[in-house]
Amino acid sequence: MKRALLQNYARYPVEFIQGKGSKLYDKNGKEYLDFLSGIAVTGFGHQHKEITEAANIQLNKLWHVSNLFEATPQEELAQKLVASTKMDSVFFCNSGTEANEAAIKFARKWGGERKTIIATNGSFHGRTLGSLSATGQSNLWNGFTPMLSGFTFVDFNNLEQTQNAIDENICAIMVEPIQGESGVIVPDDNYLAGLRKICDENNLLLILDEIQTGIGRTGKLFAHQYFDIIPDIVTSAKGLANGLPLGATICSERVAKIIKPGDHGSTFGGNPIAVAAANKVIDLLTDSQLELINKNGNKIKKLIVEIESNLIKKIRGKGLMIGIEFKEPIAKLVAKALLNKGVVVGNSGDTVLRLLPPFILGENDIHYFVKIFTSVLSKFSFSSGSSDIVNIN
Ligand SMILES: Cc1ncc(COP(=O)(O)O)c(C=O)c1O
Repeated sequence: MKRALLQNYARYPVEFIQGKGSKLYDKNGKEYLDFLSGIAVTGFGHQHKEITEAANIQLNKLWHVSNLFEATPQEELAQKLVASTKMDSVFFCNSGTEANEAAIKFARKWGGERKTIIATNGSFHGRTLGSLSATGQSNLWNGFTPMLSGFTFVDFNNLEQTQNAIDENICAIMVEPIQGESGVIVPDDNYLAGLRKICDENNLLLILDEIQTGIGRTGKLFAHQYFDIIPDIVTSAKGLANGLPLGATICSERVAKIIKPGDHGSTFGGNPIAVAAANKVIDLLTDSQLELINKNGNKIKKLIVEIESNLIKKIRGKGLMIGIEFKEPIAKLVAKALLNKGVVVGNSGDTVLRLLPPFILGENDIHYFVKIFTSVLSKFSFSSGSSDIVNIN
């Protein structure tokens, strides 16, 4: 049968029909350990009792009325987000790319005559034209040019290049605190504070895309909270409603005050069911939960180091956002082999395996992952040089 689904995804030939906690079940009843969380989305796992209950209550009350009317649960969620970030107000949308579109629009309006945003090589900000234009991976632009003007690119983690890129047209700097899609690239500890300083000295906005790093993933509600800085715009989505579509653009006061009714909007943005789930997600991200995320992340990294595989070049990341860089381009093969053995992970390009396990992970899950990963790695060997990778499985 010719497929009716647009073939824009390279899907694995596995179909999950149920999930519970850190486990997924395919249509043949096979159980999998979920170490991907729908790409950093279902942080609290599948069918989380309290989140499901919160969404269900709203599901049975009211689904949608539009943003023409007051919405107390949206206000509650916004209060929680600004209280934690020490920022001012929040725009709700449905996805990461939309949160970034809003950020780009707000920065342009704030900038007045200055319309150009400094973004970074290797970044990923989403697939709509604005966010894609801010994405420093020109291979993703192929076929879709012309990109939006008003973006200039510098290397990630390079303060000097960033400083040198500033001219009279620049209104903002936009970065991910850790580049996710490019392979879990963690910048130097002084990077975000350095960007904040550059922004302050040149009257620019600091926009942080925390769509992947936020909502507890790195062991803080937002990753920038490791560095004692306050950004001007933070974008969030992915884990915010644990799998229901919700995005947020969190603004500082100087951004918020230039936005007027009618400047921006979304029919579905801040959908009541997604917001009910998100209110519960934020409540569940207590200090002890965040500490546990860090503890489990460190444990996983330590156990992987102890495998002492000569295939592994580097392990990096923060909290439960972990990248394992291989010396050879085997990441996809390893991800496939793990999937065959019932463990779901992701990859960034050919060399980096990505682990984004759920926060509710048990001790057993960690040891099971390490056991299967060790056994999968033992089945890979190099006969010689980089082009001779053999998967003996
Ligand atoms: C850092 C970052 N920004 C933006 C996006 C886009 O989010 P969405 O797919 O919800 O539009 C992603 C998705 O992977 C991301 O990792």
